[in-house]
Parts: sequence; structure tokens; C-alpha cells
Amino acid sequence: MNKKIGIIGVGNVGATLAYTLAIKNVAKEIVLIDIDRNKTTSNCYDIQDASPNTNIYVGDYSDLLDADIIVNCTGSCKILFDKDRMSEFTVSKKMAQEIINNLNQIKYKGVLLNVANPNEQVSKLFFDGLKYTKKVYGTGTALDTARAQTISKDSNCYVVGVHENSDIVIKNNNDQNLKEKVVKRMREICSYKGCTNFGISNVTANIIDSILNNKNEVHCISMYNSEKEKFESYLSVVGKEVKKHG
Ligand SMILES: NC(=O)c1ccc[n+]([C@@H]2O[C@H](COP(=O)([O-])OP(=O)(O)OC[C@H]3O[C@@H](n4cnc5c(N)ncnc54)[C@H](O)[C@@H]3O)[C@@H](O)[C@H]2O)c1
Repeated sequence: MNKKIGIIGVGNVGATLAYTLAIKNVAKEIVLIDIDRNKTTSNCYDIQDASPNTNIYVGDYSDLLDADIIVNCTGSCKILFDKDRMSEFTVSKKMAQEIINNLNQIKYKGVLLNVANPNEQVSKLFFDGLKYTKKVYGTGTALDTARAQTISKDSNCYVVGVHENSDIVIKNNNDQNLKEKVVKRMREICSYKGCTNFGISNVTANIIDSILNNKNEVHCISMYNSEKEKFESYLSVVGKEVKKHG
């Protein structure tokens, strides 16, 4: 693998993910793409200053052809958090469709990892729309799992189901209140700063590391369920191949 990562959408999450990948030395080359090229150039220089050995630059779709993994971090942090998660779909859908068209034009064949929300619905758009790859995954309940483990101080519990949904299922933990605390966490974080960026960037960097280095670590990520015809998060073994665990 080239250890080359493309990040599309370099806002709160995309910029923090680029920084995390650079600082953790996960990627050798990082291509940043955003409709706001000036802001992206500023972020790029700032990250370069923190990690001078990482080859990070503002690019175009033509730079993404040989990327091992492209991460979709578009979407909008401005969607009101008192609304349902699905309210962001109108915005994130349009962005995803534009990206799908561009990736089909370059005949992209690598992995597409979707971070944008609503995570399962946007991931399915990529899965249905990308013509040259079906290696499409969503970060799904990876962040919910990190939250459950942090709150419970129990690194054995994990979350499956649908990201930030009250129907999530917490495995290996019997605390009846944990589910509610996990679901509330996003709003608590967003209440003053208006976004969440560090937790999601860390779990996404770990997933990327596991794919690039074929680590076969267990992560809760979302993938297509052909029987249900939708994306859902499962406990998954993540390496060059991504497989449902058990
Ligand atoms: N899955 C998770 O666990 C998780 C956690 C946190 C945030 N998110 C999601 O991540 C997404 C991004 O959040 P954010 O806070 O970084 O938002 P943001 O508004 O800060 O950043 C979005 C970026 O996308 C760019 N953009 C918009 N349209 C584009 C296009 N067509 N092509 C390229 N770039 C484009 C914007 O210019 C902006 O820089 C949202 O959907 C948010 O809900 C997911």
C-alpha cells in the first residue's frame, strides 16, 4: 500500500483527522480537498508545521486515483443539534453525490470510508453510487464505542447498531444507564463548541491504521447488509479485508 489518504471535506473533523494521521505517523501522504481552498491551504500549512515529515498538500480529484483510502468528512456542523440526526441528510446527500460523480470520473478503486452523518445513509449512497469499488465502510458506531468505553472505563464493551441512535446495543456491559449516557454525549460535547472532532478523528485514524497495516483489529464500523439492504455497524475485523466478526 502507498499509505496515501485522501480527505474530502477539511472542516472540524477533516482537519483534525489530517492532523491525527500526521502526528500518529499513520499516513505517508495526505491529500486534502475542500470547496474552500483558502481555508484548506491554511490548515495544510498549519499541520505541516506540526509534522514536517508528512507529505500533506491541497489537491484535486486527479491526485486521489492511487489513494489507498478516501475519507468523506463533508457534511455540516451547522445543522441544529436539537433536530433529528436525519436533518443533516439533505445537506450531506448533495455533497456525497458530487463526490461520487468525481470519484467515478477518475475510476477510483480503493477504500471509501465515510464519516459524514447520518452515517449509515450517506455510506449507502457511496455504496450504491460508486461504480469502481464496493469497498465502502462507515465509521458507524466506532465513536459510540469509544464513548461507551470512556464513560464506563471498560475497554471490553462495544456498541453496535446505528450511530448516535437510541436503538444502539451495548455489548459486554450491564449498566442500564450507559446507553442513555452514550447517546447524550454528542449533545453535551456540541453544546458549547458546536461540533465534535477529536474523538471521531482518533477512532477514524485507528481504523485507517488497521486497514493500511493489515492489523485485523476489531472495530465497530458499518458495512452493507445485503439481506436488510442497508448499512449497520457490527463488530468487525479490520485489515486489508473488512469482515463481520462472528
Ligand atoms: N460519524 C461520526 O461519528 C461523526 C462525528 C463527528 C462529526 N461527524 C460528521 O462529520 C461531518 C463533518 O463535520 P464537521 O464538523 O467537520 O463539519 P464542517 O462544516 O466543519 O466541515 C465540512 C467541510 O466540508 C466542506 N465541503 C462542503 N461541501 C463540499 C464538497 N462538495 N466537496 C468538498 N468539501 C466540501 C466544507 O467547506 C467544510 O470545510 C458532518 O456530517 C458531521 O455530522 C460524524
